[in-house]
Amino acid sequence: SWTMVNIVEESVEAVRSQVGDKRAICALSGGVDSAVAAALVQRAIGSQLTCVFVDHGLLRKGEALQVEKDFVAATGVDLKVVDASSRFLSALDGVTDPEEKRKIIGREFIRVFEESAREIVDAHGEAVEFLVQGTLYPDVVESGGGTGAANIKSHHNVGGLPEDLKFSLVEPLRTLFKDEVRRLGEELGLPSEIVWRQPFPGPGLGIRIIGAVTRERLDLLREADAIAREELTRAGLDRDIWQFPVVLLADVRSVGVQGDGRTYGHPVVLRPVTSEDAMTADWARLPNEVLQRISTRITNEVAEINRVVVDITSKPPGTIEWE
Ligand code: XMP
Repeated sequence: SWTMVNIVEESVEAVRSQVGDKRAICALSGGVDSAVAAALVQRAIGSQLTCVFVDHGLLRKGEALQVEKDFVAATGVDLKVVDASSRFLSALDGVTDPEEKRKIIGREFIRVFEESAREIVDAHGEAVEFLVQGTLYPDVVESGGGTGAANIKSHHNVGGLPEDLKFSLVEPLRTLFKDEVRRLGEELGLPSEIVWRQPFPGPGLGIRIIGAVTRERLDLLREADAIAREELTRAGLDRDIWQFPVVLLADVRSVGVQGDGRTYGHPVVLRPVTSEDAMTADWARLPNEVLQRISTRITNEVAEINRVVVDITSKPPGTIEWE
């Protein structure tokens, strides 16, 4: 639309005058905010921007590929992919406490990002001065409206970088709300799978496995999650549902029967919610046929999952995520 074209032009101009001929980096998470911010900055300064995608191995099925292939194809962005899944898995080995998981994932993320930032500096022989972040207007308001690194919320993925790696922030989405960011993403030609993606926590599937995180458990959860998402999309309900976590109760087993055999597998919890801003949420009344299809498919198609339950708790008292 006309206004979106204007927003693109004005933002591109603003980024150009802020960054000049210096270099910038951006951490892509697979989420819509960082994707739109990166696409906008790449339109403004082209190859002066390098994006870093840290694959922590905790993403959902197909999401890493979406960043590596579709996002790059749509934007022409210079992307550095770091496959750090083994590193994250060893750091998480045996850890079951939710906050401990978050701390470890956040810490490893910063370390990996920092290492790549240094490599980018070396490769170009000149310091990177700018860090692009997909901060939205509600984030700005929440953190008191100031500028600068001190205001990066702690749950954002790139907080707390070391002293000798200080960047000036480029935050081209600072005045926008989520729905405006999505329209901006469409205007910039991003794939609708990225633009309309539901929010997904930085620690990813790591906080949707109740119990220790292992590669095998991640594979199970990834399959079950993909089925739930597929069926939600098929039912045309993507935009009615705020988030749809699927949670693996990895330390729980229950008896079942399948074919002529007894099974002893794990349950998954479906946690579809409606919400305006994630501060409060209601459990979503998904149509029974949709729940039925998801349950049948998961128990048929995912070995070791023999039971599907639905979470009917609002927030409060429940949170959206289980950890
Ligand atoms: P809760 O579970 O607290 O979640 O109701 C509220 C919203 O925040 C997301 N969430 C996170 N996002 N890092 C993130 O980037 C985190 O550690 C984290 N924990 C929860 C959650 O998905 C929901 O959208």
